Amino acid sequence: MIISRHYNVGDELGHDIFSLKGRLLIPKGTVITERIYQQILKWEEIGMLTSKTAEDSDESTDEEQPSQVGVSVSVRRPTSDSQASEPGATIPVEKPPSGKIDSISESGDKSQEVLYEKFLSLKKSKQEEKLFQESIETVRDVFMDIRQGNGFQEEPVRKMTSDIVDTVVKDEKVSLRLSRLWDLDDHILHHSVDVCLLSTMIGINLGVSGDDLRRLATGAILHDVGKIYIPKSVLNKQGPLTERETELLKKHPVFGVKYFQDKESMLSKEEYFCILHHHEKCSGNGYPQGLQYAQIHLFARIVAVADVYSMATSNFGHHDKVDQLHAVDILAKEMTDYLDKHIVHVFVDRMRDLMLNTKVRLNTGEEGYVVKFYIDSPLLPTILLTDDKDGRKVVSPYLVHLRERPDMFIKQVLREKMT
Ligand SMILES: [Fe+2]
Repeated sequence: MIISRHYNVGDELGHDIFSLKGRLLIPKGTVITERIYQQILKWEEIGMLTSKTAEDSDESTDEEQPSQVGVSVSVRRPTSDSQASEPGATIPVEKPPSGKIDSISESGDKSQEVLYEKFLSLKKSKQEEKLFQESIETVRDVFMDIRQGNGFQEEPVRKMTSDIVDTVVKDEKVSLRLSRLWDLDDHILHHSVDVCLLSTMIGINLGVSGDDLRRLATGAILHDVGKIYIPKSVLNKQGPLTERETELLKKHPVFGVKYFQDKESMLSKEEYFCILHHHEKCSGNGYPQGLQYAQIHLFARIVAVADVYSMATSNFGHHDKVDQLHAVDILAKEMTDYLDKHIVHVFVDRMRDLMLNTKVRLNTGEEGYVVKFYIDSPLLPTILLTDDKDGRKVVSPYLVHLRERPDMFIKQVLREKMT
């Protein structure tokens, strides 16, 4: 049973909803708000829900059951049978053409091959998103344990970072793709997984591998754990912080390390460095110790780059969210004295793959695709201009070199890719 088809916003949930791992996600009796409804849709789409309880799930924790989406639910308020009134009908979910795949791939038909490729890519993206969501759930449990004064559950974190590392080693671009998922709530959890994915990708490109890569990933996921001890009124404050609030916020690296020291946790020294030194700056004016470049461990310098990018692209807290291109520009230009230049260069170089063929809108209202990307000036790529300011296709698309056009600049990065 697909839950989203049997409830509307405002209904009361008639049954507990569990994750595949048996974790209670939404308890029975919860009134479904718009946000909860959207979250259920997302979980259903990536096959993350099950009817199994925590006890049941012990036997088959690792078993993936993407087809068993939904639970047995008792509906408090029956919905109409009409298609238009079904919640699921108002938000279309793309369905893979599962029954036709073999014949499609054998037919040799070009359009069908494209369809098949789309199916494969959709399936892959859902697997990636599932990893992202499950990682967030693990981090949520770990952070909650710490907040409640319980011990640090090391094993699930090691398992999760191992899964992330294995995934990114297979396809490092997964980090950049998943790094776009910023529409969700609960900033610290998403930020932690985001920084873990990006740090792992950077590490791979710097030649880090094996257990070292796992230590980097673990350090990255735990880097902001000390924020648990910072009041939410400070963390979630819109607008600039007061001096006192800033000083308190700056203590989170020390708070994080202190927690693990108090628990006599067996974190490696690299993992400690990620937590303690991810706000140190190469120029020496970072915190908490004011270390300089050579004194900051490579892994902490990697996490620092991932952290700045992730914060810039999030709509969290004390600054305005920027798109990926502007975030890269911040890294490449504004942070040169603070961040490790070589690591930034490696990261921006990988971003090139993501940005090429992406559609952008210029200040003139015209639109086009990024066809050449310059590492030293990410905001001034070469654009293949395809749409005029009134949204009409131009007869002959032409190149615009933004480096040579001071009167033109990118106003917005659009999601669309050139096909
Ligand atoms: Fe931090």
